[in-house]
Amino acid sequence: MNKELDFIQTMFDSIAPKYDFLNRFLSLRQDVFWRKEMVKAANLAKDDLALDVACGTCDVGIEIQKQHKDQYKAQCKVFGVDFSHKMLSFAQKKIDNNINLVAGNALFLPFKDNLFDAVFIAFGIRNIMDRANVLKAFKKSLKKGGRVVVLELTTPAPGLLKNLYIIYFKKILPLLGAFFSKDANAYTYLPESVMKFPEPKEFAKIMKRAGFKNVKWKPMTFGIVTLFVGINN
Ligand SMILES: C[S@@+](CC[C@H](N)C(=O)[O-])C[C@H]1O[C@@H](n2cnc3c(N)ncnc32)[C@H](O)[C@@H]1O
Repeated sequence: MNKELDFIQTMFDSIAPKYDFLNRFLSLRQDVFWRKEMVKAANLAKDDLALDVACGTCDVGIEIQKQHKDQYKAQCKVFGVDFSHKMLSFAQKKIDNNINLVAGNALFLPFKDNLFDAVFIAFGIRNIMDRANVLKAFKKSLKKGGRVVVLELTTPAPGLLKNLYIIYFKKILPLLGAFFSKDANAYTYLPESVMKFPEPKEFAKIMKRAGFKNVKWKPMTFGIVTLFVGINN
């Protein structure tokens, strides 16, 4: 694995014990709402097979199951993949038998081609610099007509809110994150990685270039998060 991936993996291993708590706390529970919207956007059918890439502690997989059960009164099969063993071990404690966790790299998905009806990635693609190839890997693993759903932290449009958000994100959040996670780097890396993430319009172009059609995006919570959907045609 290259150095960039090693760094990310070590960082998530280190913050895994506090990851869920910090997500809820630092986002004021907005993360729960964002994942709900993400799963709704995939419009899963009854027998669909879903993949949660960079699943971390598996909150997306769990939300998929929850919505599926509410809608179809049936369980749905979900695979979760992540390269942080620590994140996966926390995920394992939260899930039931219908979610299968696999250790692996998003760039080299350990599944056969044309398998999934929907591929999800929440707050993961920002950490993967080779976005074109990771999106191509998703496309390969999707059936024709399958959906890719990407949820990512983005920067709000210029204005007062953006200035306030940047103060919170760059000055306050790293202090809170370091205090609770005991990892000073992780929550300094977080705002840096978000600032480097392309604007939604640009990221949508990368999705289109990777071969996805009908690419749409929706800013949420003043644009601090954006939800992208594309179809494998
Ligand atoms: C911010 S967490 C998101 C976790 C989860 N999706 C969520 O909604 O909370 C990012 C996750 O991506 C994983 N990750 C980053 N790059 C990866 C890669 N190349 N392959 C597999 N997992 C990766 C990390 O280990 C970490 O668990």
